Amino acid sequence: MRVLVTGGAGFVGSHTVVSLIEAGHEPVVVDNFINSDRSVLGRIGKLTGNVPELHEADIRDKDAMTDIARTGFDACMHFAALKAVGESVEKPMLYYDNNVSGTISLVEALLEADVNSFVFSSSCTVYGEPETLPLDESMPIGTATNPYGWTKIMMEQVLRDVQLANPDWSVSLLRYFNPVGAHPSGLLGEDPVGTPNNLMPYVARVAAGILPKLQVFGDDYPTADGTGIRDYIHVVDLAEGHLAALARHAGDAGVHTYNLGTGQGHSVLELVRAYEEVSSRPVAYEITGRRPGDVAASWADVTMATEHLGWMTTRDLHEMCADSWNWQQKAR
Ligand SMILES: NC(=O)c1ccc[n+]([C@@H]2O[C@H](COP(=O)([O-])OP(=O)(O)OC[C@H]3O[C@@H](n4cnc5c(N)ncnc54)[C@H](O)[C@@H]3O)[C@@H](O)[C@H]2O)c1
Repeated sequence: MRVLVTGGAGFVGSHTVVSLIEAGHEPVVVDNFINSDRSVLGRIGKLTGNVPELHEADIRDKDAMTDIARTGFDACMHFAALKAVGESVEKPMLYYDNNVSGTISLVEALLEADVNSFVFSSSCTVYGEPETLPLDESMPIGTATNPYGWTKIMMEQVLRDVQLANPDWSVSLLRYFNPVGAHPSGLLGEDPVGTPNNLMPYVARVAAGILPKLQVFGDDYPTADGTGIRDYIHVVDLAEGHLAALARHAGDAGVHTYNLGTGQGHSVLELVRAYEEVSSRPVAYEITGRRPGDVAASWADVTMATEHLGWMTTRDLHEMCADSWNWQQKAR
């Protein structure tokens, strides 16, 4: 299939582009490189022997997106978004514009070009504060604690409404848990600009001696060691989840919602210990107060994805840390 991949130079998008090429598809990348680097395309080429077609464009530019969409696609995978929770609190309009208006422009372009299979990067953040665990897809969408979370809730709603008005549309809403790790080659990974917002890239930089210590936000949660629990998922497993959704639902009218996680939670300190083990480096940390908006624990019920997509993760926390460390060591 010829697949339009927005944000295809980013962390999850680039790994999915590799999986698409490896599966014989033809991904076409659209990115404005606001949070990624052009060199990613060359590295994808090195890995797969195939440098994907690239359009440097902003998804908010409807005319540009329409021209691109009209070149003909079987499906669109939509990764392009801003994702820094703290920044979204400081600059809410930037997030609503980039993520929500951007999605609207993109969808309008796809409607005009008659591309009707859509795979969307959603997030477990849409569930809000969990009342019971694990989280399953039938649970109501919660209240977001920051503008980034609201953009995901809004974009899901936009897509459900578009599907309702265009019954031949296929929309897959993929709710990621916590993507981490890197490609095992060490050629692709997460390379945040400035201080990382997410735990594993931060831990990686502490292990590498780039940052002095990790701040652990709270050790008084009702969890076994008191630190927050998350469902970490290896980015290559996540990429494979997208391919499974594409294979199952391209051209299959309706809205298809899936959690993509491992179904298992790990605490912050478990992750720190696993990282110390694979890197043979100490990861210094200090316990600080809880961070507003953080939930104590979150992990997925993955029954839907297992049963309907025939997909499940195969990479454990150890492998996630080992691949992250390999990527960190091959610092670009
Ligand atoms: N990484 C996570 O923890 C996580 C968790 C849940 C959901 N998600 C979602 O998954 C998607 C991909 O996340 P990621 O971690 O790969 O992020 P990323 O920042 O690495 O990738 C996003 C890509 O989109 C591009 N982009 C952003 N705005 C754009 C615009 N207006 N026009 C064109 N390109 C634009 C960026 O340059 C970047 O290459 C996002 O939608 C994100 O919200 C990520």
